[in-house]
This record gives sequence, C-alpha cells and structure tokens, in this order.
Amino acid sequence: MSRAVFFTDTAADFSAPLAGSSPVELKRFPDGELYARIPAPVAGRDALVMGRCYPAPDAELFKVLVVVGALKAQGAAEIAAFIPYLPYARMDKSVKEGEAVTADIVCGLLSAAGCAELITVDCHFLKQGEGGFSRAGLKIRNHSAASALLAYFKGKAENPVVTSPDKGAAHMSAKAEGGESMEKARGGYASGGAAYREVESLEAGFDAEGRDVIIIDDMISTGSTMVKAVKVLKAAGAKKVFCAATHGLLLAGSHGKLLEAGAEEVVCTDSIVSPASKVSVTGLAGLMQ
Ligand code: R5P
Repeated sequence: MSRAVFFTDTAADFSAPLAGSSPVELKRFPDGELYARIPAPVAGRDALVMGRCYPAPDAELFKVLVVVGALKAQGAAEIAAFIPYLPYARMDKSVKEGEAVTADIVCGLLSAAGCAELITVDCHFLKQGEGGFSRAGLKIRNHSAASALLAYFKGKAENPVVTSPDKGAAHMSAKAEGGESMEKARGGYASGGAAYREVESLEAGFDAEGRDVIIIDDMISTGSTMVKAVKVLKAAGAKKVFCAATHGLLLAGSHGKLLEAGAEEVVCTDSIVSPASKVSVTGLAGLMQ
C-alpha cells in the first residue's frame, strides 16, 4: 500500500501538485490554539507530512509536530516529515556557555512526537552534504539542491569558478569540478537584542580575475556573507558574479543589496518563497522516493 501524504497549509504550493497528497484540516480555536485533523484513515499505513517552517518558524514547527502526533495517534505505521528548510538548525553547537543547542531540541521533539525520519534539504548542520544521518534520536535524510542550482546557470555563466563563501558549504561548491571554498571568520555577538555575529573577514584564495563566478551557499539570511563575497570577487576582477543559495530568507533587503554589489542574479529554491525562488525542492532528484 502506498504512503499517505499530507501537507500543512503553508506547504500547499509545493505539496498539493503531488499526486495523492491531501491537506491536513487546520483551524484555530478562538484563543489562537491550533486544531488539526487528519482527513483520511491512516491506520497501518506509512505516512508523510510536508511542512514549510518559514516564516513563523516556532508556530510552523509546532504545526508539524501536532500533525505528526495526530498521525501517530491514528495508528500510522512509519511517519516521515518533509521540511525543506529546517528551522533552528543554525545552533548546532554552543559558542557561549549556557546557550541552547536548538538543532538537538528540534530533532528530539520531532522524534518524540513520532517522526521516524526527517527529509530535508541542505540542512545547516549537515556540512557533509547529502546522505543519511541521525541527530538526537532522529533519522535524517538530507538532500542537496547544489546540482540543481548550478544547472540553472548553464548558458548564463561561462566556464565559471564555483565557490562557497565558507567551509560550511564546501560540499556545495564541490559539486562542480574544481569548486573552491572561501575563508570566512565571524566575530563575537553584536551588542543589542539580536543574536548575530558579524562577518569579520572573507577571503578568496583563488584567482577570479576575468572569470565568471557562481557563489553557492546553504542560505542567504541577512545577506552579509553573500554581499561580502560578491564585493570581494568583484574587487578581485571577476567578470560576472552569480549568487545561489538553497534557502533564500533574503532578510534586510539583501536581494537588492546583492544586485547593488554587482551580482548578476540571485537564485534560490522554493523552500522559502521569494522572487529568487527559481528551483523546485520537490523536483530534486530522488527526493520524493
Ligand atoms: C553560515 O554558516 C551559512 O552557511 C551562511 O553563510 C550564513 O548563515 C548566511 O547568513 P547571512 O546571510 O546572515 O550572512
């Protein structure tokens, strides 16, 4: 019997076109609490819930947990969750004593709710890239959008150098022959209410003079990393610079800042909806198997 596939309201754009998928019935109680109902019998069947946990990562993550819990209570056999952009993955270790390692908390919660496997894309803490992993008791299947993002630039970038702005995304630039990683260093936390560590330095250890360059990363959040990388490469004499990232949060006007800095185009997946969403996560090879 095939797997039953359900999706939350915020994931409808990439889930509803999949044959046989159904929306979870979701409502709000008058006090704002979530009501969820699985609309079809699942007892004894494997089930998949598809969710988008951005924006509003806290509420969206809780929504997925509630749906997983409901599937479990209805007797579903093996339950998997597809969350293309896994929130809270950034804090995969503590930098300062006492910090919450939210990557562990989120994985532990999904597992405790009844999720047997998380299927995700370019998860921030999986710097090894694609494959099967486990964290806090949760089995994780990580896919990468790197090849699909790079394929987008065929015919646009001429014999490009492909680079990641830091070692953390080196597995993405490594998808291209001769892919290079830049060296990035972050400073301590900035003062004020925002938990943010400034990019202190970013250097390319390769010759970009006269070359087209594709910079590829797992995410563009505030854009500080990518903007700095574009500037460094333009100053080094790069011809055309293209920006690619799996998850385009594109905060703080970073899309415009990248174009102002000299980027030709910014390309991301639809894990997060933005004007740069040009590659489909559900279209990634092998993802929906
Ligand atoms: C860092 O480890 C990540 O791969 C990204 O480079 C980073 O999170 C991007 O953040 P921002 O856009 O704020 O520089």
